[in-house]
This record gives sequence, structure tokens and C-alpha cells, in this order.
Amino acid sequence: MATIALIHGPNLNLLGVREKSIYGTVTLALINQRVIEVAGSAHEVRPFQSNYEGALIDFIHEARTWANGILINPGAFTHYSYALRDAIAGVALPTVEVHLSNIHSREEFRHKSVLAPICVGQICGFGWRSYTLGLQALLDHLAGG
Ligand code: DQA
Repeated sequence: MATIALIHGPNLNLLGVREKSIYGTVTLALINQRVIEVAGSAHEVRPFQSNYEGALIDFIHEARTWANGILINPGAFTHYSYALRDAIAGVALPTVEVHLSNIHSREEFRHKSVLAPICVGQICGFGWRSYTLGLQALLDHLAGG
């Protein structure tokens, strides 16, 4: 049984409305539901979204006391938030970074993730399925598989 912190960064509350040609039509609530479904009764998933860097950092610090791992879409913070990177490194929880879009095929500034080097791995480009693939990868990692 693993408990997973499912963290969404800025603007992801607008999924389903925002730039649908890039991010699709699936809402954040539906993504949370699908991740929880994949986790099944064997694992617990606790979702959290914020548009504020400090709130995300506080949640990561708190997750240290109950989570076994972190599944995170850091949104635009991916590309420049050393504070978020330090928070994840600080709590030392195995973390998988996910993105709906393929950040490597988009604008130059999206190609770099400052978080990726301290994550177990990164999954991007599969739309909402990046999250379920990311959860599976994180659970396999935690199980040592
Ligand atoms: C994103 C990619 C980021 O570059 C962007 O700022 C987002 C969403 C994605 O899921 O594709 O907000 O993280």
C-alpha cells in the first residue's frame, strides 16, 4: 500500500477550458478520478492543485509526513522554479514528473526542466494518460520493479 501525493501546478485548474488543442478537453477533476481509479483500492492518492509556488512547497513539506512518493505536473514552474526543485530534493520522496504536452517539441523555454534531474523520471506528451503512465511508473519504482 503506497500513499501518493498527486500535485498539479499553476493554470492546471483550467484544464478542459485552456488551450484545448494542446492540453485536451479532460478536466483536472477527471484526471484526478482516473489516477485514483488506476491506483485502485491497493493505493491511496491525495490530489492537490495550486497556482501559488509557496502553497505547493508547503504541501510538499507536509507530504513528507504521509506520502511514499510524489506524482507532479509542475506546470510552468517546471522551467524555472529552483524553490520547487529544492522542496522535492529536501523531502527526498521518489518523484515522477509528468506533462500533458510534449514539452520537448514546443517552445525552446519549455525544453528545460529544472526539476527533472532530481526526479526518478519524466513522462510527457501523452495527454491525460501521462498521469496514469506516471502513476504506474512511480508505483513500480516504489515496489522495486
Ligand atoms: C505543462 C507544460 C508546461 O510547459 C506548461 O507551462 C503547463 C502545462 C503540460 O502539462 O504540458 O502549464 O506542464
